Amino acid sequence: MPGFWKRLFRPKKGDDIFCAAVVPAAGSASRMEGQDKILAPMGEWPVLLHTLKALEASAYIREIVVVTREDQIVPVSQLCRDCALGKVSKVVVGGPDRTHSVLNGVREVSSRAGLIAIHDGARPLVTAEIIDEAILQASACGAAAPAVPVKETVKLASGGRVEHTPDRSALFVVQTPQVFDADLIRGALGKAAEEGAALTDDCSAVERLGIPVTLTRGSYENIKITTPVDLAIGEAILNWRDAR
Ligand code: C5P
Repeated sequence: MPGFWKRLFRPKKGDDIFCAAVVPAAGSASRMEGQDKILAPMGEWPVLLHTLKALEASAYIREIVVVTREDQIVPVSQLCRDCALGKVSKVVVGGPDRTHSVLNGVREVSSRAGLIAIHDGARPLVTAEIIDEAILQASACGAAAPAVPVKETVKLASGGRVEHTPDRSALFVVQTPQVFDADLIRGALGKAAEEGAALTDDCSAVERLGIPVTLTRGSYENIKITTPVDLAIGEAILNWRDAR
């Protein structure tokens, strides 16, 4: 861990933890074949409502900032009101890419938050255990995210030709919530945006500063709704959970 970060970062005890959640939900859903994934029904509720209820249930999360597309500010705000989501403090407009959307949310977080958990709006099946483990780990070391081992063999390829087969035992799929010391993630995302770095998750913003991220236990159930079949898989997981 770089020395400056060790000097800045002070681990927190359980009772002192004030974590804010930022929920990026402002994507264009370009892989959903015209369906809107954030407000699409999955079981009894829209996808985003599952996500927000899971975050609300964590005692460490004290406030939630939802980031949405401009055309969805009204329905998303209405959903939060109708469902009495008491921890949702703000619904704000996102940016052209994920990093800018998250930055817009992070800037609206209360100054009392020592930790920020960034969780995809499109990841509705996250559990309390996954959320709390990532938060506790981040409170101890500054940056943590849940992950699961890769099940398939992965190929690096270019133009349809395999270039390399990485060792599967060292590969993990990272999920959200990704949880960080609040000052660290503000700085890291600001720098990434300034430098035009194309990032697909928030850990990458911290990694590029040379600061380590700890992986916690994720779950194969904590899927991201990306293509239409994921809604059917999400419903199947809900039914499977009910039947257990
Ligand atoms: O594109 P991807 O599936 O990785 O998006 C992950 C999350 O980031 C989704 O919840 C999506 O709504 C959000 N996102 C966003 N603003 C963007 C692009 C994606 O909030 N410009």
